[in-house]
Amino acid sequence: MNKLFKSKIITNEAVTEEIYLISLEIPENIETKPGQFCILRLNHRLDPLLGRPFSIFDHVCGEIKFLYRVKGKGTKILSQLKKDELLTVTGPFGKWYPFPQGDFIVIAGGIGLASVYYLIKKFPKKAHLFYGVRNENEILFYEELKELAKHVYISTEKETSYTYRGVVTELFKEKGKSLSLPIYACGPMVMLKELKKIVNEAQPCYVATEERMACGVGACLGCVIETKQGFKRVCTDGPVFEIKELLL
Ligand SMILES: Cc1cc2nc3c(=O)[nH]c(=O)nc-3n(C[C@H](O)[C@H](O)[C@H](O)COP(=O)(O)OP(=O)(O)OC[C@H]3O[C@@H](n4cnc5c(N)ncnc54)[C@H](O)[C@@H]3O)c2cc1C
Ligand code: FES
Repeated sequence: MNKLFKSKIITNEAVTEEIYLISLEIPENIETKPGQFCILRLNHRLDPLLGRPFSIFDHVCGEIKFLYRVKGKGTKILSQLKKDELLTVTGPFGKWYPFPQGDFIVIAGGIGLASVYYLIKKFPKKAHLFYGVRNENEILFYEELKELAKHVYISTEKETSYTYRGVVTELFKEKGKSLSLPIYACGPMVMLKELKKIVNEAQPCYVATEERMACGVGACLGCVIETKQGFKRVCTDGPVFEIKELLL
């Protein structure tokens, strides 16, 4: 069940020039699952009026974290907030990733890592992670990921001693396609489209999608995505869908 509460900022730090990790105090009785998201609203401000949705990056009792890229006005303001300032948080919202029963594959494109990190952490040493970023500086939490996952494969635009040169779906085709395991993925639409071409219909593949949101509770139809069963709301029917259901 989702709730609305005021949250104090514990830390809000840049991890790269554009990407921040914010950590907030939340009530201890809030339960979350990997793949769900919360809406963060900037207190005392009418502009931007609407809250912004962010995937739950990590959650331990009383503390929740979100990893976000500064894109526009809302995330710029968010990045400037300091320790002890207050935010209004609503959530958790949405369908989560179905829990894996054994080993599983994770494909993360860029900031898409924000949606899958919590899943990798919840099931330690089970994930075969394929993580694609543009350049080496954008590889986030590498040491933690190596500890948490069973294998970590990384792709960058330029090859380095420990990365593959190319996009993450190419890397997956080369190193992961033969693994017959469920797939969990989050990344840009172009990555999801490529993935849909590669994945065989019998292999479960769950993807977290993103659309612009307004109400977050299924009322405004501002976040719809096209599926085989017609338009569905990312906020309440998703954000996690089976890739074969989506018309990408
Ligand atoms: C379910 C869900 C989970 C998300 N999780 C994360 C996350 O964990 N980390 C993260 O960095 N971002 C996440 N996003 C995207 C994030 O919500 C947007 O980047 C943010 O709302 C932009 O707000 P803004 O005011 O800075 O930008 P705006 O000024 O509103 O827009 C700036 C630019 O960002 C684009 N944009 C706005 N909203 C979205 C969106 N939903 N998806 C894609 N592009 C968008 C706009 O088209 C525009 O080009 C998520 C979105 C959804 C729907
Ligand atoms: S954001 Fe209003 S229906 Fe999804």
